[in-house]
Amino acid sequence: MASTSDQNQRVLSGMRPTGKLHLGHYHGVLKNWIELQHTHECYFFVADWHALTTEYDRSEGIAPHVTDMVIDWLAAGVSPGTATLFIQSRVPEHAELHLLLSMSTPLGWLERVPSYKDQQEKLKEKDLATYGFLGYPLLQAADILVYRAANVPVGEDQVAHVELTREVARRFNHLYGKEAGFEEKAENAISLMGKKSAKMYKKLRKEYLEKGDEESLSVAQALLDSQQNISIGDRERLYGYLEGGGKIILPEPKALLTKASKMPGLDGQKMSKSYGNTIALRDDPKDVEKKLRTMPTDPARVRRTDPGSPQKCPVWQLHEIYSPNDVKDWVQAGCVSASIGCVECKQPVIEAVQKELQPIQERAREYERDMKTVQSIINDGCEQARDIARDTMEDVRKSMGLVYR
Ligand code: TRP
Ligand code: SF4
Repeated sequence: MASTSDQNQRVLSGMRPTGKLHLGHYHGVLKNWIELQHTHECYFFVADWHALTTEYDRSEGIAPHVTDMVIDWLAAGVSPGTATLFIQSRVPEHAELHLLLSMSTPLGWLERVPSYKDQQEKLKEKDLATYGFLGYPLLQAADILVYRAANVPVGEDQVAHVELTREVARRFNHLYGKEAGFEEKAENAISLMGKKSAKMYKKLRKEYLEKGDEESLSVAQALLDSQQNISIGDRERLYGYLEGGGKIILPEPKALLTKASKMPGLDGQKMSKSYGNTIALRDDPKDVEKKLRTMPTDPARVRRTDPGSPQKCPVWQLHEIYSPNDVKDWVQAGCVSASIGCVECKQPVIEAVQKELQPIQERAREYERDMKTVQSIINDGCEQARDIARDTMEDVRKSMGLVYR
């Protein structure tokens, strides 16, 4: 069982199953997930419904990537004992929350999300003037809120979606957090904390409400996190009561901005499937070698005797990631004086990439040989995720007055 404070630090993130994972994903996203899993309660999921928003006309192409992506995560070091791995469509509560949130989300909020128009422009060949595509960020909000996640590790391009999620949550709490008898319930919850904590809570609340002292607010929130005796519902009431408002049913998450991956592709642009410049995590070592050998270098080095400058060469960017200082010095000196050739210069990078991929591929092969284990990791993850999502939906329905029995 996660402790109360862990629950408030829950991390959630998802990835669309649109193809094989590559080194850009590894350096940009997966390494970050792997770090977070040691310090936080982590939920990572395959966003197959999100893939459908753009791939609806090729929906059969999604399935093959779903399990494969989970294998890539596991191979990269995401640990199923520590993190919960699941598939979005196996937890239908995401869809239910999406629907309920859609009732109160103004169209303008969705139309103004920058990725909406950008992606429509970029993927011109597709008809993305669909209801589902407009709702993409709202579905993402539901993904996050259904787990009451506190932290959402995402790249720059997704920050606007987390912002929208915060607004959607705020509006929801405002609309539905005003339960009858809120004050009495909150006061009652305070008394359940025990005398000392209750007194402290009241004092901190007063300081925050009267003087706007942010420090008191965060101390009071930490105090609530550490309470063992109160229910989740009461804790949320007291969270809301602290700020004077009603009950907080869906807490606002924050984006944990993942540093942009510095991983360059084979042409020096950002590594991305759409540029066709990737090294996949499961590329054969021979292919890795071939891809790197045929990589363009500084065009000034036409002949072996022509000097070049690493600054103009995508291979140098790879040295920056993979090579220790002495190798980097060797490249710098050798390139500008033409004392080394490009083939020679690439060799340490080839070896470093192969060495990095070797244990990943070894693990991937083990999982591929044991699909039963992979399936059971996914099944367990889906069940665990669903338990939490069900709890949230009960609260959501209750607060909206949708419980008719
Ligand atoms: N939109 C995200 C992306 O394209 C994927 C995603 C879907 C996601 N739901 C999420 C990320 C929830 C974080 C949280 O990368
Ligand atoms: Fe690039 Fe190395 Fe060739 Fe210089 S020597 S151009 S850094 S590959």
